[in-house]
Amino acid sequence: MSVLVTGGTGFIGSHTVVELLNVGEDVVIVDNLCNSRIEVLERITAITGKTPKFYKGDLLDVELVERVFSENKIDSIIHFAGLKSGAESILEPGKYLNTNIISTFNLLNAMEKHNVYKLVFSSSATVYGTPEEVPDYEIDLVGKVCSPYGLSKYLIELLLKDFASQRKDFKFIALRYFNLVGAHPSGLIGEDDGQSIPNNLVPYITKVLLGQLPYLKVYGNSYDTVDGTGLRDYIHVVDLAKGHLAALNYLNNTDVKFDVFNLGTGKGTTVLQLVAAFEKVSGKKIPYQITDIRPGDVPLSFASVEKANKILGWKAEYTYEDCARDSWNWQVKNPYGYSKE
Ligand code: WQD
Repeated sequence: MSVLVTGGTGFIGSHTVVELLNVGEDVVIVDNLCNSRIEVLERITAITGKTPKFYKGDLLDVELVERVFSENKIDSIIHFAGLKSGAESILEPGKYLNTNIISTFNLLNAMEKHNVYKLVFSSSATVYGTPEEVPDYEIDLVGKVCSPYGLSKYLIELLLKDFASQRKDFKFIALRYFNLVGAHPSGLIGEDDGQSIPNNLVPYITKVLLGQLPYLKVYGNSYDTVDGTGLRDYIHVVDLAKGHLAALNYLNNTDVKFDVFNLGTGKGTTVLQLVAAFEKVSGKKIPYQITDIRPGDVPLSFASVEKANKILGWKAEYTYEDCARDSWNWQVKNPYGYSKE
């Protein structure tokens, strides 16, 4: 029996496939490579000595989805595939909602036809929108989303909850990620969003350190934090990957129908604290300028993680300094990301 990993050559997907292979699971990947590179498969094999079965294609293609389910004995699914940029979704709302929701719908239809009952969904802390207070608890109000990306994640959570409640045997877990950073300690796989000008902080910092960008813009220093800069919960991608295995284990061993869990460290780190961590691991100064606050930015965001700790038995082990070390190690070894298209 296999675990189907949709989006399995992406940043989180590839790290989760590594952890699944490392514990002896058989893995099938379906990925359209819109946000990833085929070279990731070679890297996964280099790390684990194993090669997952791979289908290049899109979950919007119902014939491909049917072929994947017909050709493999699938026991459970970890569903990462989807468009993932909050900023881009504001420019292309229809594309985001259609792609992310219809892809999931096609997957659920195939699950029902082939009696596949277990799915772990890649959700996001963006379902909390701008929280009134921190940390974000799973019981907090959700749905006050700031982008079509966040809306798509929230609507899919509602779809999964309703689908499971209406059908015997189906059981789903949604994992709400905080700020995903870091890379596999080998430096063979890591974040490659293909952007020459990244939206997110860490890839921007590493490009400045590589000399590919002149300086970092720090979006505001008037927040109510230790140094006035924005505060986030930065979680290492390997911790996040292991959180998915803990969620799958929980699905395999309980009668839960639907539940959600935050995956974060439970600690907040400011922009300048992260900058200092990268300066320490790289031995280089990072030139930066304080600029205006970025529209749409949440001032402070970090997770309440008691629920995942207690129920999933999962806890993040890496610190934000570890994240800086491993992100930098990946970037130095792969200054332009994955080379092959
Ligand atoms: C982090 C901090 C910025 C860039 C991201 C994803 C979102 C979700 C959560 C998955 C903020 C500051 C940033 C820069 C800066 N992921 N910053 N200069 O906005 O928290 O959201 O993670 O669901 O989809 O977008 O991440 O890395 O953009 O910002 O000062 O050049 O860094 O103001 O305080 P964000 P980010």
